[in-house]
Amino acid sequence: MPEIPTTAMEAGNRDGGSLIIEGGRALKGSVTVSGSKNATMGAMAAALLVGEDCVLENVPDIGDVPHMADVLRSLGASVEQTSPHSLCINAAKLNGFSPPTELVTNLRASFLVMGALLARQGKAACSPPGGDVIGQRPIDVHLSGFAALGAKIGRDGEKFVAEAKGLAGAQVFCDYPSVLGTQNLMLAAATARGTSTIVNAAAEPEVQSLAAMLNSMGARISGVGTPTVKIEGVPELKGTHHRIIPDRLEAGTYAIAAAITRGRVDVQAVQTEHLFSLVAKLREAGVEVEEDGGSLSVRGTKELKAVTIQALPYPGIATDLQAPLSVLLTQAHGVSYVHERVFGNRLLYVNELRKMGAEVVTTGTTTAIISGPTPLIGASVRALDVRAGAALILAGLAARGRTEILDIHHVDRGYERIDQKLRDLGAHVERV
Ligand code: EPU
Repeated sequence: MPEIPTTAMEAGNRDGGSLIIEGGRALKGSVTVSGSKNATMGAMAAALLVGEDCVLENVPDIGDVPHMADVLRSLGASVEQTSPHSLCINAAKLNGFSPPTELVTNLRASFLVMGALLARQGKAACSPPGGDVIGQRPIDVHLSGFAALGAKIGRDGEKFVAEAKGLAGAQVFCDYPSVLGTQNLMLAAATARGTSTIVNAAAEPEVQSLAAMLNSMGARISGVGTPTVKIEGVPELKGTHHRIIPDRLEAGTYAIAAAITRGRVDVQAVQTEHLFSLVAKLREAGVEVEEDGGSLSVRGTKELKAVTIQALPYPGIATDLQAPLSVLLTQAHGVSYVHERVFGNRLLYVNELRKMGAEVVTTGTTTAIISGPTPLIGASVRALDVRAGAALILAGLAARGRTEILDIHHVDRGYERIDQKLRDLGAHVERV
């Protein structure tokens, strides 16, 4: 069976590259959403908990997947691509407790191996994880949670080391409902002695998805989707087949693409309940959205209205959709306020958007005031991270003339063949 490519670069046309967009076309048709990037990361880490096959279905073909596969392989696990969107991971021959620093510094989700390795082997070490430049990204929730479960936390050079002879269930309070923090604690506590309770847990669908996978492996986790998660430790887990949930952030991006181009798009294969807050905001802004089982039908209207947006933990508006929504609001009548309440520095894309003619003022690093509508004009702009890059693509679709988006590899980390999917909807997009 083929191994998946060892680096994101080999995984397709995903070099630094650019997208060239000739804007001004209304998008029409239907688009099928891929599996969730962030749910896949948790599922891949969970496979380290057992020495049996874990088969993952609906895995997206995106840059972060081969990158995470490299992290797992560095620990002795095998990761095979069994079909275009499935992986079989087997960690029977796990032989490491510390992934190399160069593999983890660009992939924040790699820190999830800590919880799994600590549970399985009693020792884990990892350099502070990297990721996008979107504000401070501490890991105190992860580390203090491991300590509450009985692990000794130390440093070995730049690496954090967690060690325990056997984890014991405990009450764990999270200072912040961190998504990866909650997932790491669920991975660690699944086989701890006794019951653990995570208080102020993250409720995101990706956390719920990891709990579903762990439960299918024999774990006893309840309360996910609420701020209090209970984990009754079990002595042993087993392999599983698990289907990755649809990517609500990719779905949201295409819904906004329909709205900003005044098009009509059916966004298919979604879990509409995961998109409740986005749909509410789109409707408030005047976009027509109909929900039909597993799809959203989105119709852009001529007159968009200014609205206020607060990016918050789930079920609030996702911080990952803050930049795409802000781009939409450049086309709304009136003054829109955007408050980023999750990350401290996730408005950096505003400088790029201004190059395209948007009227956006920031106050501090977390509030943007957008006056609209302003006609967007094609320009050369840079994708700074995966969601900021997606937002600039949306701006390019709405702009008059030619937009060049540089460093598109950031977008390819999290969006499966975005250029092809947009072309299928009638957009004029070319990858160079
Ligand atoms: N935080 C702490 N202490 C911690 C951890 C986090 O104070 O120990 C704070 C951070 O400073 C930040 C806030 O908590 O202000 C949110 O961080 P969180 O830990 O929830 O984010 P994350 O788990 O590192 C995941 C996603 C992000 C997504 C955020 C918020 C993955 C791989 N990443 O990151 O996704 O924005 O949750 O929902 O699951 C993306 O996909 O583009 C992306 C960045």
